Amino acid sequence: MSVMRVTIADIRKKKAKGERFAAITAYDVVTGRLVDEAGIPFLLVGDSLGMVSLGYDSTIPVTLDVMIHHTQAVVRGNKTSLIVADLPFMTYHKNAEQALDSAGRCLQEGGAQAVKLEGGRSIAPTVKRLTEAGIPVVGHLGITPQSIHQLGGFKAQGKNVARATELLEDALVLQEAGAFAIVLECVPAELSKLITERLSIPTIGIGAGPHCDAEIQVIADTLGWFSDFVPKHAKQFAKLADAAAAALSGYVKEVEAGTFPTEKESVSVSEEVIRAVEERIAGAPGGA
Ligand code: KIV
Repeated sequence: MSVMRVTIADIRKKKAKGERFAAITAYDVVTGRLVDEAGIPFLLVGDSLGMVSLGYDSTIPVTLDVMIHHTQAVVRGNKTSLIVADLPFMTYHKNAEQALDSAGRCLQEGGAQAVKLEGGRSIAPTVKRLTEAGIPVVGHLGITPQSIHQLGGFKAQGKNVARATELLEDALVLQEAGAFAIVLECVPAELSKLITERLSIPTIGIGAGPHCDAEIQVIADTLGWFSDFVPKHAKQFAKLADAAAAALSGYVKEVEAGTFPTEKESVSVSEEVIRAVEERIAGAPGGA
């Protein structure tokens, strides 16, 4: 029986029915499969992979080729989620043509069903162009990590009247341009509520309070891959870094003590084979 992948129509319907949903990032075949098995409808191949998987200190070094490489791996592991790929830094800023080329590659080569790009009204013509070309788009407002140098750090956005109004207007403009959902990152809960009430497309919050239509988290934070770093907006639903550290120290101890591997983890041949090998090498140059 063929399995059905979640579509953007399904995501739109959830908003219409008032059905909240979970979204999460994934970066490779393993995380893609975990998200699939958990039945999470919305999967983002986030450019946060630059920090989480590649060890950069921001999303800026992530290139389109890297993004496509990771998206392909996620798609190989996931058959049911709607897969959205982030358009990386400077792959859609020049003009709509550049955005079309970049987004086209994410769908055609990467296997994603949609792309996400950061920015408000300035990016709206690009969103319109992509959606007119049949490429579904998710917007991203609030903290936009690709503009971290311009924003001056990871600070909550929309805390004064001017900036809050700007964010609400940007959300409406992106919806009008054709975005089918909007990520709100580190936006005050009250403002996210207002934006969510004013939009007919789903808002997907991260650090944006409990009133958005959906929540997205970085899988590394949710699963506790890093014991020394938990962002304020995240909750560790597991502590995999601790579990992995305990497992690896158990492995090292058993290897050093000679208790692993045992016969159970080995394959064997008959003694005759070994004797025959010994006899054969005894007559060979350098043999015993
Ligand atoms: O790249 C990412 O992980 C994201 C989420 C924070 C929404 O954009």
